[in-house]
Amino acid sequence: MNPISKCARFSALVSEMKKVSVLVVLACLLPGCGLTNYVPPVNSHMVTARKGEHVDLAMLREGRTLFAHRCIECHTLPVLWRYSTEDWPEIVNTMSHRASLKPAEREAIVAYILAVRQRWRPANMLNHRE
Ligand code: HEC
Repeated sequence: MNPISKCARFSALVSEMKKVSVLVVLACLLPGCGLTNYVPPVNSHMVTARKGEHVDLAMLREGRTLFAHRCIECHTLPVLWRYSTEDWPEIVNTMSHRASLKPAEREAIVAYILAVRQRWRPANMLNHRE
């Protein structure tokens, strides 16, 4: 193979890679890609987020799992940023009857939601309310 055709193959490869990355970016911009319905993973910073209350990593993890699995049975997963910190305990309370959550499960979900809201504030989040 001569150097020129090698070069041509290389640039074809590069442009193919560009196409792929454009597709990836586009896919992430599509609604429903999970940005707004994102359920952020638990990290140790979240544990310290609410002082004076008993919250630990295990509880937050349980809350996250329960939220992601039980709160999607009847409707799409609620967007964490759409409701205020004051509204969430009330909402989960109401929904806990529907989702037949035990009191501890309800508390874990509330703890997770509030910890995320305090700790994880994406600047680009639409529908963002304090
Ligand atoms: C058994 C079905 C069911 C389950 C499970 C369920 N929901 Fe709901 N949810 C509903 C229905 C029906 C509505 C709409 C009617 C209403 O607001 O009462 C609703 C509405 C909502 C709303 C909108 C309320 C508003 O005022 O705009 C939120 C937020 C919500 N649910 C959160 C949750 C969360 C969090 C969980 C998990 C703890 C959950 N839901 C589990 C049935 C369910």
